Amino acid sequence: MTLRRRLADTELTAVGLGAMPLSLAGAPEPATAIDVIHRFIDAGGDFIDSANVYSSTAAPGDNERLIARALSQHPQGRRVHVATKGGVQWTGRGWRANGRPQALRQACEQSLRDLDVERIFLYQLHAPDPDVDISESVGVLRDLQAAGRIAHIGLSNIDDAQLARAAEVTSIASVQNGLHPRRKQSLADGVVTRCREHGIAFIAHSPVGGYHDHARLADDKELRQLAQRYVTSVANLAIAWLLQLDEHMFVIAGARRVASVLASQRAMELALDADVMRSINRLVDW
Ligand SMILES: NC(=O)c1ccc[n+]([C@@H]2O[C@H](COP(=O)([O-])OP(=O)(O)OC[C@H]3O[C@@H](n4cnc5c(N)ncnc54)[C@H](OP(=O)(O)O)[C@@H]3O)[C@@H](O)[C@H]2O)c1
Repeated sequence: MTLRRRLADTELTAVGLGAMPLSLAGAPEPATAIDVIHRFIDAGGDFIDSANVYSSTAAPGDNERLIARALSQHPQGRRVHVATKGGVQWTGRGWRANGRPQALRQACEQSLRDLDVERIFLYQLHAPDPDVDISESVGVLRDLQAAGRIAHIGLSNIDDAQLARAAEVTSIASVQNGLHPRRKQSLADGVVTRCREHGIAFIAHSPVGGYHDHARLADDKELRQLAQRYVTSVANLAIAWLLQLDEHMFVIAGARRVASVLASQRAMELALDADVMRSINRLVDW
């Protein structure tokens, strides 16, 4: 069963593919990475999340070029919607936000080339830049949309106050924040609620614990006990919980392995009881 949900004017599979692990440290060989994307499409998936900074080198764009290649080689590649992000740069030591207008415009033009598209389906501000008013960064995205370079505007790693300010500038299609059973800040601070009230899709990143902490979540004693009731994994319990939180919720599950892709697609079949939902809602954050 594939659960489909609406992001702006488009229906997409509720469980998308988070492509980040295919291009960071520990990434598989390109042929395996392309196979992961192809098997996701074969399983019915049509929504992939990327970012210009998901790259194994200092230069951005590895992940976007990988996705473009994979889609061009699959007979159904054209039905897949790709979301990407700009507004963060590699400094040599780590990632740092850069939401200045010129940097955002250049990043978007480069992503158009790397994804090999005329227009980007969903372009997300990767993170607010503390040195730039969010209205200014979002204003650039509004102009890119008006120029036809991007179809929809998304925001990532934002709090409720930032979302409220951005929504005054233009129509926001989606918010992408970290959310899983031990990371519920976006529930607590009202972002998820504001998205619901304004018809904004919420895209949960790091849904099964994230790049660094998925093994820790999989080992969580309380979650393991709950997962046992459904003869499922903690990862799939987490995805099912997210999907059941609300109808505007999307999940982008990362994968280096085909097995992870297929497992995440099966999570759409899992229906959790109200008391299990409550138990997970009550778990304290890490
Ligand atoms: N906006 C942001 O700042 C931000 C930050 C972080 C992530 N993201 C986005 O969110 C996506 C997801 O986050 P993530 O990749 O960090 O972490 P994640 O989705 O929590 O996944 C982490 C790892 O868990 C394993 N896994 C995933 N689904 C599974 C399942 N159903 N059953 C068993 N194992 C499963 C995969 O391992 P294997 O690799 O072994 O297959 C995967 O690499 C990223 O790919 C990226 O697109 C965005």
